[in-house]
Amino acid sequence: MIIEPLTVPRITAVEHLIGIGGPFVWARTPSDYWLYAQLFSSTCPVAVEGDRPIGVVIAFRSQDRPSDIYVQDVVTHPEHRRKGIAGILLDSVRQQAATWECRRLYLTSEPDNVAAQATWLSLGFVNVPGDHTVNGVAVISDYKGPGKHRAVYELALK
Ligand SMILES: CC(C)(COP(=O)(O)OP(=O)(O)OC[C@H]1O[C@@H](n2cnc3c(N)ncnc32)[C@H](O)[C@@H]1OP(=O)(O)O)[C@@H](O)C(=O)NCCC(=O)NCCS
Repeated sequence: MIIEPLTVPRITAVEHLIGIGGPFVWARTPSDYWLYAQLFSSTCPVAVEGDRPIGVVIAFRSQDRPSDIYVQDVVTHPEHRRKGIAGILLDSVRQQAATWECRRLYLTSEPDNVAAQATWLSLGFVNVPGDHTVNGVAVISDYKGPGKHRAVYELALK
C-alpha cells in the first residue's frame, strides 16, 4: 500500500470509494473532487493498493483560521477496515499540518457513527463539549446550520 495525494486520474475511483462508505458519508460531485485534487491535494491523501484506492481522507486548511485543518471525510474500504489505514491517512495530514505549523485538526461526526467515534478517540482526538449528549457523546446543536447537530472532535497539534 502506498499513500499519495489525490490526483485528477483517481477522482472516479475515489468518488466510488466514498460512495460505498455510507451512510454517514456520501460522494460529492466530480467537480468537488477536481477542486480537492487541484487545490487541496496535500491534505487529501489516498491509500492505494495495486492500482485501487482503499482509503481516503479529504481535509482542508482553513483560510480564515490558518492554524486549523478541517477533516471533511475519512473512508476506508469495508474489506480493509481495522488495519490502521484511517490512522495512517490522518497521520499524513498531521505531517502536512506540522510543516504549516498548524495547531489543530478538527472534524464533525454524526453521534450515531460508533465506528467513527471509536476511531477519533483511538487516534487522540477529543470530543469537544456540547450543549447536550447523545449516547454519551457531546453534541453541539445547529453546528452545521439549523437542525444539523454534530459531535465535534479535535486533535491539538504541537
Ligand atoms: C471510521 C473508519 C474511517 C475507520 O477506518 P479504519 O481504517 O478501519 O480505522 P483504523 O483501522 O485506523 O482504526 C483505528 C482504531 O479505531 C478504532 N476503531 C475503528 N473502527 C472501529 C469499530 N468499528 N469499532 C470499534 N473501534 C473501531 C479501533 O481502536 C482501531 O484500532 P484497532 O483496530 O487496533 O483496535 C471506517 O470505519 C469507515 O470508513 N467508515 C465509514 C465511513 C465513515 O463513516 N467515516 C467517518 C465519517 S467522515
